[in-house]
Amino acid sequence: MKDLSPNKSDLDPIEIASVDEIRALQLERMQWSVRHAYENVPMYKQRFDEAGVHPDDLKSLKDLSKFPFTYKNDLRDNYPFGLFAVPRSEIIRLHASSGTTGKATVVGYTKTDIDNWADLVARSLRAAGLRKGDMVHNAYGYGLFTGGLGAHYGIERLGATVVPMSGGQTEKQVGLITDFKPDGIMVTPSYMLNILEQYHKMGMDPRECSLSVGIFGAEPWTDAMRKEVEAAFDMHAVDIYGLSEIMGPGVANECVETKDGPVIWEDHFYPEIIDPVTGEPVEDGEMGELVFTTLTKEGLPMIRYRTRDLTRLLPGTARSMRRMEKITGRSDDMIILRGVNVFPTQVEEQVLATGGISPHFQIELYTAGRMDAMRVYVEALPSAADGASKAAASRMLLKRIKDMIGVSTEIIIGDPGEVARSQGKAVRVIDNRSKE
Ligand code: DLL
Repeated sequence: MKDLSPNKSDLDPIEIASVDEIRALQLERMQWSVRHAYENVPMYKQRFDEAGVHPDDLKSLKDLSKFPFTYKNDLRDNYPFGLFAVPRSEIIRLHASSGTTGKATVVGYTKTDIDNWADLVARSLRAAGLRKGDMVHNAYGYGLFTGGLGAHYGIERLGATVVPMSGGQTEKQVGLITDFKPDGIMVTPSYMLNILEQYHKMGMDPRECSLSVGIFGAEPWTDAMRKEVEAAFDMHAVDIYGLSEIMGPGVANECVETKDGPVIWEDHFYPEIIDPVTGEPVEDGEMGELVFTTLTKEGLPMIRYRTRDLTRLLPGTARSMRRMEKITGRSDDMIILRGVNVFPTQVEEQVLATGGISPHFQIELYTAGRMDAMRVYVEALPSAADGASKAAASRMLLKRIKDMIGVSTEIIIGDPGEVARSQGKAVRVIDNRSKE
């Protein structure tokens, strides 16, 4: 793989400033942000007043813990524009979540917000090893989803050439990568597996392609998947994290020279980890739920937003800013099976470690008697699709899941191509448990 380490002189000075400098900037910006929310968003005024806190009480970063949390439901309850802190006419872009459960959540950006977002995605791409003059194939979905347009503006801001491919049309994706020879690709990791499969279908060697780095996010993925994709394409794979409520892609990004978890762009977002049950902040290094406070957002300031993502904060390495550990999962995705907590990412690790099967998988939850039970659907590789190989792979995966995760499951090994393919964010869990 190519050495893509960036020149230190190309970084934004704040990325390598002292921790004290970063904390000072954060406090100044946080005081502005909390006041901006209080003075311009009725919900924040009401919540702060009820909790007996005022923006003047924020004298140090620690004081933030006195302020109430914000939840996804608050966006739904104030649908569509109730949490905007500026007149609607100053909002130059809207994005929205698909709203599969309940109403969509709508987010809005001022011109300055869009500008900051582009800067931070450009910074993220630089961390991933890309630079001015490179070409980036953007296969994140364009539209209301923040992935496509968020990445697009950042690629342009970096001074790179953007190929605005969006998701889907997998054969065309491979065709364009072959013809245009991009240096980087931005796509969900599960859709990258589709692209990989397409290379094989077309009898092409993915290691021969021009890509030197993939920037994968929008869903959890494991280090096992990193190794798989890096080996298959002979390129680097780095993690990009973000969420619409806070900005979109580029809230945090991994550095290609260390690949040790996304660096949080702390000059714009203040992270906390809390105990998800008590709501109390925990020390850096401890696992819990990630909470963000935006420091510069004009359109939609978020104070102590509960992401539901589970991770821990780690000290800076390649940059002075803190990192987050690669996300194991969301508290919403956690499956509790006979008292054992299971995340789809743990199943992913075991699927990738089992020979004879493809990396595509889906989990079904169902009710067996009074108990919850789990089935894992995988599929045989074309070279191992006979009965004996399937039975051996099934036994192996069953044992690995029992030994490594501690739960009993049923394994269904289908023929090649039988497991549903992701077009963007993969649907890992199908919940067929009876609702009584
Ligand atoms: O998925 C923004 C994004 C687009 C990030 C493209 C990266 C690349 P939402 O649709 O609002 O925004 O979903 C946000 O996706 O709270 C996490 O649960 C999950 N997520 C995003 N990035 C990662 C990642 C975009 N790198 C939700 N690892 C977040 C694990 C991720 N989960």
